[in-house]
Amino acid sequence: MIIKPKIRGFICTTAHPAGCAAHVNRQINYIKESTSIQGAKKVLVIGASTGYGLASRIAASFGLGADTIGVSYERPASEGRTASAGWYNTVAFERAARAAGYIAESINGDAFSHEIKQETLKLVKEKLGKVDLIVYSVASPRRTHPDTGETFNSVLKPIGQSFSNKTVNTNTGVVSEITLEPATQEEIENTITVMGGEDWSLWLKALEEADLLAEGVTTLAYSYIGPEITEAIYRKGTIGQAKNDLEATAHTLTKQLERYHGKAYVSVNKALVTQSSSAIPVVPLYISLLFKVMKEKGLHEGCIEQAQRLFETLYSGSTVETDEEGRIRLDNWEMRDDVQQAVKAAWSEITTENVSELGDLEQYRLDFLQLFGFGFDEIDYELDVNPEVDTTL
Ligand code: NAI
Repeated sequence: MIIKPKIRGFICTTAHPAGCAAHVNRQINYIKESTSIQGAKKVLVIGASTGYGLASRIAASFGLGADTIGVSYERPASEGRTASAGWYNTVAFERAARAAGYIAESINGDAFSHEIKQETLKLVKEKLGKVDLIVYSVASPRRTHPDTGETFNSVLKPIGQSFSNKTVNTNTGVVSEITLEPATQEEIENTITVMGGEDWSLWLKALEEADLLAEGVTTLAYSYIGPEITEAIYRKGTIGQAKNDLEATAHTLTKQLERYHGKAYVSVNKALVTQSSSAIPVVPLYISLLFKVMKEKGLHEGCIEQAQRLFETLYSGSTVETDEEGRIRLDNWEMRDDVQQAVKAAWSEITTENVSELGDLEQYRLDFLQLFGFGFDEIDYELDVNPEVDTTL
C-alpha cells in the first residue's frame, strides 16, 4: 500500500512504518552521539510510544544503557488501515534496542487499568527484576477509573471566565481569534482525574506492593508551565489544575519512597509539537513563534534533546538542580526573558499575512508530519509498503 498523510484537524489518521522507524532512528543517533551518562539500568516507561515518553525510553537505552519495558496504548494495522505512529515507533525501537543488546519489551493496553498494571508487573519481574527509574508520560483525553469503571473526559478550557486570544489553523495558516468558554466544576475535576497524579501514584503503589522498586529508585512525570500568552488556557486552565495535582503527587511519592532512598520528580519540559500539544487551542501558534525565536538564538530543542538534558540533570551531578518547588526546569531556555520578550513582540503583530515570516509554521508542520512518519527525505513515499510490520523478531 502507498501511504500518504491524511490530516483531519489536528490529527493524522495514517502513519508510515518506514518513516516512523526513521524518526526513531534519528533520535537513537542523536543519543548515541551525545555524552553517555551513568544512571538507571532497569527502566519502566509508561506512555512510551510517542513524544516525551518515547524520547525518554530511547535516551534510557542508548544513553544510560538501560533495559526497558514500555507501556502504551496504540492501534495495530487492520483491514487496509495503517497502525498508529506509536505502534510503528515501538516496533522500530524494540528492533534497534534488541540489536544493540538491550532488553526491550512492550505492553500495549490501557495503562489506567488494573489488568495492564498487573500484566506489566509480571513482565517487569520476569525481564528486569527491580526497576530503578519509572517514567510516567501518559497523555490521554480520557480515563476509565479502574475501581469504578466510570469514564472521565479531560477538557482544555479556561477557569472562571471566558478567554479570547489568537490561534492558528496550522493546515491553512489562517490566524483567527478564538473564544473559549470556562469549564464547569465537574469538567475541572474530571480533567484532574484524567491528567492529574492519581494514576502515577497507583503505578508506584502497584510496583511497591510487588516489591519491584530498587534501592535509590527515581520516578519522573512531565509537566508544563508556559508564558502569559497561554496561561489562561494552560497553566491557569483545567489542564493546569491537573498539573498542580501531578506536581503535588511528586511530593507525596517522594515521602513514600524514603524507605528506598528514592525520589519522585516532576520535570517541567519545553513546549513541543506532539500529538497531545497540537490539540490545545492557541498553543500551536505560540509554538511556531517560539520555534522561530529559539532557532535564531541557537536554543531550539526537540523531545530527544530534552530527554538527554533531563538525564544529564538527573544523573550527572551530586545533587539534582530544581526550582523552589522541587521541579526540574527543562523549560529554562523557553522561559528566558529575551526569548519570551521576542515571542511577545511577535505575538502582538501576528496575522494570517505575516505568520510565515514571524513564526516558523513550516517547522511546526514538518514536526507534525514527522510525528506520523512523513516528511523524511530518506524515505520514498511512493514505494508500496506493508502496513502490517513484522513484530516478531
Ligand atoms: P504524546 O501524545 O506524544 O504521548 C502520550 C503517550 O501516552 C503515548 O505513548 C500513548 O500511547 C500513551 N497513552 C495514552 N493513553 C494511554 C493509556 N490509556 N494507556 C497507556 N498509554 C497511554 O504526549 P506528550 O506530549 O509526549 O506528553 C507526555 C507528557 O509530557 C504529558 O504529561 C504532557 O503534559 C507532558 N508535556 C508535554 C509537552 C508538550 O509540549 N508536548 C510540554 C511539557 C510537558
